[in-house]
Amino acid sequence: MTLLLLLIANVCAPCHPAIVKQYESTGMARSSGKLSGATAVATVHDPSSGATYRINHDHRMEFERGPVQGSRMLEWFIGSGNVGRSFLFALDGILFQAPVSYYSAAGKWDISPGYEGKRTIQMGRAVEPACLQCHASGAQPEGGVSCERCHGPGQKHVATGKAADIIHPAKLPAARRDGVCAQCHLTGVARVATATRKAGTFRAGDLLSDHLAVFVWDAAEAGELSATSHYERLAASKCKQASGDKLWCGSCHDSHREPAAAEKAGFYRQRCQSCHAQKPCTKAAATSDCASCHMPKGATRSVDHVAFTDHSIPREKRPPAAPVAKRALRPFLPAPAQERETALGYAIAAMTEPAVRREAFERLQKAPRDVAVMAQLAQFHDRMGQEEQAMALCEQIVAIEPDHPAAAVNLAIYRIKRGRTAEAIALWEAALKRSPAMTGARMNLAVALSRSGEREKAIAALRQALRYEPDLEPALRLLRELGATP
Ligand code: HEC
Ligand code: HEC
Ligand code: HEC
Ligand code: HEC
Ligand code: HEC
Ligand code: HEC
Ligand code: HEC
Repeated sequence: MTLLLLLIANVCAPCHPAIVKQYESTGMARSSGKLSGATAVATVHDPSSGATYRINHDHRMEFERGPVQGSRMLEWFIGSGNVGRSFLFALDGILFQAPVSYYSAAGKWDISPGYEGKRTIQMGRAVEPACLQCHASGAQPEGGVSCERCHGPGQKHVATGKAADIIHPAKLPAARRDGVCAQCHLTGVARVATATRKAGTFRAGDLLSDHLAVFVWDAAEAGELSATSHYERLAASKCKQASGDKLWCGSCHDSHREPAAAEKAGFYRQRCQSCHAQKPCTKAAATSDCASCHMPKGATRSVDHVAFTDHSIPREKRPPAAPVAKRALRPFLPAPAQERETALGYAIAAMTEPAVRREAFERLQKAPRDVAVMAQLAQFHDRMGQEEQAMALCEQIVAIEPDHPAAAVNLAIYRIKRGRTAEAIALWEAALKRSPAMTGARMNLAVALSRSGEREKAIAALRQALRYEPDLEPALRLLRELGATP
């Protein structure tokens, strides 16, 4: 990490040494990197699976559940550790997320968010590219959030030193300025990539709405509970509603510097008073800690991407509102949402909110068809038991995009159910060549091979699946049935 951080910093450091130095100590700058040095030994027991994990001094993670055991070398972290840290390891050039994380408040390791309540050890989840988009600056889990993420490509400016050759976020028109922070700080209910831009190509200075449609729940009461991002909360504040474009993240935060604990109250008070000096608080002195009353903090700060400090700046701390029965999605960014993006937004929302499943399905059916829409529709048809429709859609997707992993592996399932085994095997083999970590698909392939009498190939596929997912019970079972060992 140190090397890469220095390389990135060095580009700007000769001319902006103070900013580079200050920025290094922020959570953003330290939000990902390579592990180095020694760590304290720790053990985690997972009551639901019965697994035991042990972290060694050298960051080697051992795991054990009954006869299943092994180890992985944790090489990278995600998260500065102000709140917590997730860890990554590499196998065959693929990055996987570790099933245990470090939680700073509790001062201990525990099961990672999203890994709780499993029956087996989960070792085969490839890291979501989105993690690295927000915590690093692309595909590598290193270097934290770089200067360029907020200032745009710096090459030309480094050569010329001219102001015109670099983005100064505060000088941008409001929507473009806000997009600089919103690219990472606006979670919403669903973030949908627009049809015209490739994911991960947003640059500071672009309009975020050209790249992403972000949806939030419309109901204000329910929104109170579900609005998890700083962006959404701030938009709900009187300050923002009454100030409009004048108020933004940069009104209170210095992107290059986190104020020290002792200096915090004064630092933020000054920001409040830049607008509230004329008509001071009726309940407290002008020298008080404004944020302590008007931006209260949640009970526990979690790694769940929930705004901890209440950015809706209430007069008085509000109890969270009760959830409402029916709610709809509303586009958050000031751009007319298209039918396609709205339908995809509902499809994503439906994964955690069954009440909008029907609406998602209806919208998908009406939306202009592209690969993303067809892939979602195929899943809906499949879940509703409408296999013919699902299969036809997968065929269309694979015809357009032969590399589409989900469509290819699902099409193989439909093929094999219809006795077209050779086609299914070919589809799985091709998909796995491109995406080797799809363990479920490899398991299906092994079953198909073994049923076609290809014992050796089946055994090889099972061993490969177990390489990524050593506690894959069906694979262990089939291996035993085939008279082989892992
Ligand atoms: C060769 C020296 C040099 C390097 C290297 C350099 N800058 Fe600058 N930068 C300058 C100078 C000089 C100014 C002031 C220009 C002016 O005011 O006309 C400046 C101004 C800026 C500004 C303010 C622009 C504005 O509109 O006021 C930003 C932002 C900035 N630099 C960011 C960066 C970033 C990010 C990097 C690294 C990618 C970087 N600089 C590397 C010399 C440099
Ligand atoms: C490339 C993604 C990205 C961009 C762009 C970004 N942030 Fe962040 N920000 C993060 C992440 C990730 C964290 C959590 C860092 C951690 O602790 O690991 C964070 C943390 C913060 C924090 C908490 C203090 C700290 O440094 O950890 C503040 C305040 C903040 N960001 C403000 C901003 C503002 C203001 C902007 C826009 C000018 C912005 N961020 C742009 C990703 C980003
Ligand atoms: C849309 C951008 C975004 C994505 C995607 C994202 N994060 Fe974050 N993450 C943030 C921001 C911003 C923060 C800090 C404040 C907050 O909670 O909003 C954060 C905080 C964290 C923290 C706590 C860091 C600390 O100590 O302050 C961890 C750990 C973390 N994220 C891990 C992950 C992992 C693992 C993934 C992928 C599964 C992921 N994040 C995906 C933006 C993102
Ligand atoms: C999280 C977003 C973010 C990151 C990361 C970031 N900056 Fe900035 N930078 C800003 C914002 C916002 C401003 C405008 C501040 C203002 O004037 O309100 C700014 C202003 C500047 C300026 C001109 C104004 C000044 O304070 O002199 C320079 C130079 C600069 N940044 C350099 C850098 C360098 C070098 C890095 C990397 C070490 C960096 N920035 C990283 C958001 C960021
Ligand atoms: C960019 C200007 C701006 C900044 C910065 C700002 N506010 Fe406001 N705020 C306003 C405006 C405008 C209103 C609405 C008119 C009013 O009540 O004065 C408002 C309203 C409020 C209200 C009344 C809310 C309600 O629901 O009636 C509180 C409380 C408040 N602000 C506190 C703060 C605190 C605390 C800070 C600093 C953490 C802050 N404001 C920063 C502009 C701002
Ligand atoms: C009116 C002032 C104000 C504005 C505007 C503001 N913040 Fe904050 N923010 C704060 C205060 C105060 C804290 C608490 C700082 C602390 O205790 O360390 C905070 C904390 C944070 C944190 C740390 C995690 C947490 O929830 O405590 C992040 C991340 C953050 N803000 C991001 C943003 C982003 C992104 C924006 C723009 C959408 C924004 N903030 C706008 C005042 C503000
Ligand atoms: C001890 C808690 C506390 C502190 C500290 C505090 N406030 Fe307040 N503030 C309140 C309460 C309670 C109200 C609501 C008063 C009411 O409804 O009559 C209020 C009201 C406000 C209002 C709305 C006033 C109006 O007429 O609508 C603003 C603006 C405000 N505060 C700003 C600030 C600023 C700026 C600071 C820091 C200098 C600050 N407050 C510090 C408790 C506090």
